[in-house]
Amino acid sequence: MAVREILRMGDPRLLQVSTEIQVHELGSLPELIEDMWDTMQATDGIGLAAPQIGVFRRLVVFGIEATPRYPEAPPIPPTVLINPRIDMLTQERSEGWEGCLSVPGMRGLVPRYDRIRYSGIDAQGLPISRDVEDFHARVVQHECDHLDGVLYPMRIEDMRNFGFEPELAAADAAFDEPPE
Ligand code: NI
Repeated sequence: MAVREILRMGDPRLLQVSTEIQVHELGSLPELIEDMWDTMQATDGIGLAAPQIGVFRRLVVFGIEATPRYPEAPPIPPTVLINPRIDMLTQERSEGWEGCLSVPGMRGLVPRYDRIRYSGIDAQGLPISRDVEDFHARVVQHECDHLDGVLYPMRIEDMRNFGFEPELAAADAAFDEPPE
């Protein structure tokens, strides 16, 4: 399959709202999904949304295995999520450091809901519904934001908590999670 070019922040296409996928289109998706996994793995990401490779449809992939490289990142099963819906299970939010393959080399501190239910269908059209929290919930909220043209820097509440990775690391900003 293929590693695709990732659109970067500043490209106005990343700001558009992506369209839903119809059931009769599922048969045409395997190649796109394969490319998304390839692209994500080649860039060491843990999630990728279709619009990041210029396909403006409501499809995200994410997942991370347990890895000593990121001991603070709990494993998330590899997931293809189509036409996702997110319901908050709490109003509580927490801040965490995020990165994005469309904003390379940078990190920012972003508030996200602590517990959510996400639902949608998988690549076979089977329903998915999961109640998740913390890091898993953060990753899904980040990826689904891409489908509405929202990039994580747009959610940073204090722009002093946004910067380049080496400078933040030197300043001892606590982040040890992989980029989304
Ligand atoms: Ni992202």
